[in-house]
Amino acid sequence: MSANEEWQRLITVAMEARQWAYAPYSNYAVGAALLSASGKTYEGVNIENAAYPMTICAERVAVFKAVSEGERQFLAIAVVTKNGGSPCGACRQVLAEFGLDTTVLIANEDGKLVLSTTVRELLPGAFQPEDLVK
Ligand code: THU
Repeated sequence: MSANEEWQRLITVAMEARQWAYAPYSNYAVGAALLSASGKTYEGVNIENAAYPMTICAERVAVFKAVSEGERQFLAIAVVTKNGGSPCGACRQVLAEFGLDTTVLIANEDGKLVLSTTVRELLPGAFQPEDLVK
């Protein structure tokens, strides 16, 4: 599979995962698909809560699922929303913990790529694990 085909596959996985979003308050469903360096794909959706701040974003669900299964290195994450919305600051920070070179594919509900970027570009000057030991 070429990189392009792999990225499009990741977007399709995120699109399909999106149906499981639990977003009764915002009605803004988000699907994510995270590709680890080991070749596995982890899905995530946003999960809202009646106590609103307890909500968690799709990207962080995908990262936490992957890390809880032993993954630490990620090649790419696809994020699908109705309108190609951008990952929030908290998710950028969580992604940055595991590397700035992860590709971030932002797509709309039709699976159309809106932006291909990296965590480095999305979070300039990220606070990194190294910052704790300098
Ligand atoms: N949301 C995500 O899942 N990812 C983002 O990066 C942006 C926001 C969710 C949180 C909430 O459930 C809904 O989208 C509206 O903010």
